[in-house]
Amino acid sequence: MTLLSTALGMLFYLLQAVSGESGYAENGDFDDAELDDYSFSCYSQLEVDGLQHLLTCTFDDSDINSTNLEFEICGALLDVDCLNFNKLQERYFLKTKKFLLIGDSKICVKLEKKNLTCRKMNIVKIVKPEAPFDVRVVYREGANDFVVTFNTSHLQKKYVKVLIHEVAYRQEKNENNWMRVNLTSTKLTLLQRKLQPNAMYEIKVRSIPYANYFEGFWSEWSPSFHFRTPETNGTELSLSYGPVSLIIRRLWNNCARNQKK
Ligand SMILES: *[C@@H]1O[C@H](CO)[C@@H](O)[C@H](O)[C@H]1NC(C)=O
Ligand SMILES: *[C@@H]1O[C@H](CO)[C@@H](O)[C@H](O)[C@H]1NC(C)=O
Ligand SMILES: *[C@@H]1O[C@H](CO)[C@@H](O)[C@H](O)[C@H]1NC(C)=O
Ligand SMILES: *[C@@H]1O[C@H](CO)[C@@H](O)[C@H](O)[C@H]1NC(C)=O
Ligand SMILES: *[C@@H]1O[C@H](CO)[C@@H](O)[C@H](O)[C@H]1NC(C)=O
Repeated sequence: MTLLSTALGMLFYLLQAVSGESGYAENGDFDDAELDDYSFSCYSQLEVDGLQHLLTCTFDDSDINSTNLEFEICGALLDVDCLNFNKLQERYFLKTKKFLLIGDSKICVKLEKKNLTCRKMNIVKIVKPEAPFDVRVVYREGANDFVVTFNTSHLQKKYVKVLIHEVAYRQEKNENNWMRVNLTSTKLTLLQRKLQPNAMYEIKVRSIPYANYFEGFWSEWSPSFHFRTPETNGTELSLSYGPVSLIIRRLWNNCARNQKK
């Protein structure tokens, strides 16, 4: 009897919990507040298409009905007071040479010519670099290390030239165990003895503007590069195979010399 009443009590408790939760969801106050909030985020990409810059904005709430909403930027522009954004699905973007790159602009969300909300932004402080590419890893047997190289379009740019690159690598079976290294150049050496032998590794790179004038956000990650480490460790390699390969090389050289004679 007590068991049954306990069970019933628990069932009642559970029902209350469930209905309590749905009651909260049906309460529209919270949702309405969200809909009134046209908060948005923007990032700039300088010199993406020759001399043209790109500015991209999206609403923070991706469920917002943006059908009749427009974006406009005013201030810190060359020749004009304001420019309108184009829209592609949920993204608003503007490709132009007209950014002054000095001082603040005002970016506004508009509904039928009326400003709904505005934010002050400085184009040079919201830079999101382009993702690095061409990540490669070359094993150097003699040096017992791996040389990591990659490329970035920012090497060719006039403005956002100084970046920090974050190289992240992991053994593929250790899903979340990323090792990370920061660098300003596009080349890095990884010591073989720091990596597991005979293992698959994944490596990728992203970039962020570094201090001075330009600031902003991390780029997207580059495409990943995958590589396998050799069977044995560096020390083992040089101990057991080093002398042998040296002898073979000497024999080969002698052979070659004899043939020339
Ligand atoms: C979005 O709003 C427009 C009018 O502003 C309306 O015609 C359209 O049906 C709405 N779309 C959705 C998915 O609610
Ligand atoms: C909207 O905001 C911009 C930037 O502050 C301003 O130039 C413009 O006059 C405003 N438009 C209206 C209709 O208030
Ligand atoms: C980097 O990529 C650019 C093209 O975007 C190319 O011109 C350049 O030669 C590449 N640099 C290296 C070191 O591969
Ligand atoms: C790399 O640099 C970024 C940006 O300055 C910083 O947030 C991060 O902590 C650094 N990571 C390491 C491993 O030093
Ligand atoms: C390789 O080196 C690592 C660390 O130095 C060590 O833990 C591992 O046992 C070594 N593996 C072999 C096959 O020697």
